[in-house]
Amino acid sequence: MNTLSQEKINEIRNSVNIVDVISSYIPLTPRGKNYFGVCPFHDDNNPSMSVSPSRQIYKCFSCGATGTVFKFIMDYENISFLEAVKKVADIGGVSVNIGKIKKKQTHTELHQIYDLSLKFYINNLNTPSGKEAREYLKKRNINEDIIKEFQIGLSLKQGALSKILIDKFKPDEVLKSGLVGKNDYGYYDLFYDRIMFPLYDLDGNPVAYSGRIYNREDNSKYFNTRETEIFKKGELIYNYHRAKDIARQKNQIIIMEGFMDVIRAYTIGIKNTIAMMGTAVTDAQAHLIKRMAKDIILCFDGDEAGAKATMSCLNELLKLGVTPKIVRLEDNLDPDEYIQKYGKEAFQRKIDNPISSMDFKLSYLKNGKDLTSPAGQAKYISEIITELNKIDDDILKDLTIKKICTEMNIDEDIIRKHLENTKQPKPKPKQVQTKVTTDKYEKAESALLYYMLKSPEVITMYNNKVTYIPNKEYRLLAREISSFYKNFGFINEADFIDYIECDEDLMNTINKINKQNTKEEYSNEEIEDYIKVIKDFNVKEEIKRLTNKMKNLTDPLDKAKIAEEIVSLKKECN
Ligand code: CTP
Ligand code: MN
Repeated sequence: MNTLSQEKINEIRNSVNIVDVISSYIPLTPRGKNYFGVCPFHDDNNPSMSVSPSRQIYKCFSCGATGTVFKFIMDYENISFLEAVKKVADIGGVSVNIGKIKKKQTHTELHQIYDLSLKFYINNLNTPSGKEAREYLKKRNINEDIIKEFQIGLSLKQGALSKILIDKFKPDEVLKSGLVGKNDYGYYDLFYDRIMFPLYDLDGNPVAYSGRIYNREDNSKYFNTRETEIFKKGELIYNYHRAKDIARQKNQIIIMEGFMDVIRAYTIGIKNTIAMMGTAVTDAQAHLIKRMAKDIILCFDGDEAGAKATMSCLNELLKLGVTPKIVRLEDNLDPDEYIQKYGKEAFQRKIDNPISSMDFKLSYLKNGKDLTSPAGQAKYISEIITELNKIDDDILKDLTIKKICTEMNIDEDIIRKHLENTKQPKPKPKQVQTKVTTDKYEKAESALLYYMLKSPEVITMYNNKVTYIPNKEYRLLAREISSFYKNFGFINEADFIDYIECDEDLMNTINKINKQNTKEEYSNEEIEDYIKVIKDFNVKEEIKRLTNKMKNLTDPLDKAKIAEEIVSLKKECN
């Protein structure tokens, strides 16, 4: 539990208007009493999220996401409840002393293994055995401050780390870390004699390494930790935790290919950068990026491979309705090399003058084609038509057509006719597949809770008439609601959500019931009905239990007693 009183949390929440805060993250349009926007928590293009100024909560009609301003910021920025409270307090100008906020983290043994290995690697770099590595870093213009900031370290000779880890942690856990292996001769290090760049999860915990060779020949320049329980490559973005706040302030995020590029950009004060770790961008990563800032710039390596990677990342982002801008660097240079060769100002100019994604695509498609031959031209145009078909923006489409036709000296009608003929039916945005319950018992429980969250009267009915809610997650939520009401003497969804500190399990349950129920009003008869359904269920369960019990009894008298009980329970059911 936190150190803030419920009153303080309420004061902080009331110091801002949820509509203003959410609209600083996503565009909202007023409709009726509420505001609507595209829900950032699932894949969608429709404005399914409603934000209510009167109730100070948001609710997505498609995925069921619900919460107060704190919950929104928590999920959007991937931060803890207290961190979100602190942010809102800053916006609202409420002074609050939360002290140093502890990052939300489940500190497992694997995390501890990484913490220790990191200390070990960092220390190694400063020992006499680290001389050569220090020289390598120096030659690459990576100074002390950067080494410190990015916690760059060094793995030593074979066996050094595994010895330490095996002594201190459970061997099974150590083997799971991806840092140590085991064979007939014992434990061995998976990383040795490499410069170690820690990779962090979204909260900034070290969870993996990329180790670079610096003093020997090896097939692979970088060796990365394999996936583990705490390191999922497709979910991780290099430098996310350092870049996200700055990206939000600038409303711009720069995506690069390698982490060395990010580190280099950092040295010249460009800190709103992340890297994709040399892999194709996944859906999960694209979602995170979409939420980091409005302006997204892809600045990949200047070589052919970089152009190809740009194209694929671009398409991934376009699928989510995000249109990044593109920076291409000359002479096949990557950002790291470009910055070192041309300096800070030149690189900043590149970032300040990106090209549109359509212009990038046009020049990319042109590449390697002989546009003097009719065959080359035809291929180019047909590929462009495929791209044009993906564009939703009519104006952009029109401008692009005009541009190509002038450039290629062809008739606009030809392209337009082709577009018409090759038009693909638009795929519907993916609907979030949440299991919709049909079970009448669960329906009753869900509805009862839905109205408990709105009305003290229903809470009282629950307190007086329901002894047990069969479904565990609903039961826990009902208890929390009831105890909130007992403590504060009123009920209101926004306060309640903050009271439970957006507890993940309880929030999931709230989201679920908000998705299953939509009607605002209720009648007492309806509530009575729900309660009766729940009671019937309990009675049926009890009958089942007794019937089973009876089977195992031998004494006829005991049997008769239970049979009697069953009969009277059955009566209750009807
Ligand atoms: N990468 C990798 N294994 C390799 C090469 C690259 O995992 N053998 C990943 C690394 O995460 C790297 C990214 O792909 O950050 C980009 O690769 P590259 O451009 O080759 O790396 P650079 O940033 O140029 O690294 P350096 O300057 O140290 O050569
Ligand atoms: Mn490089």
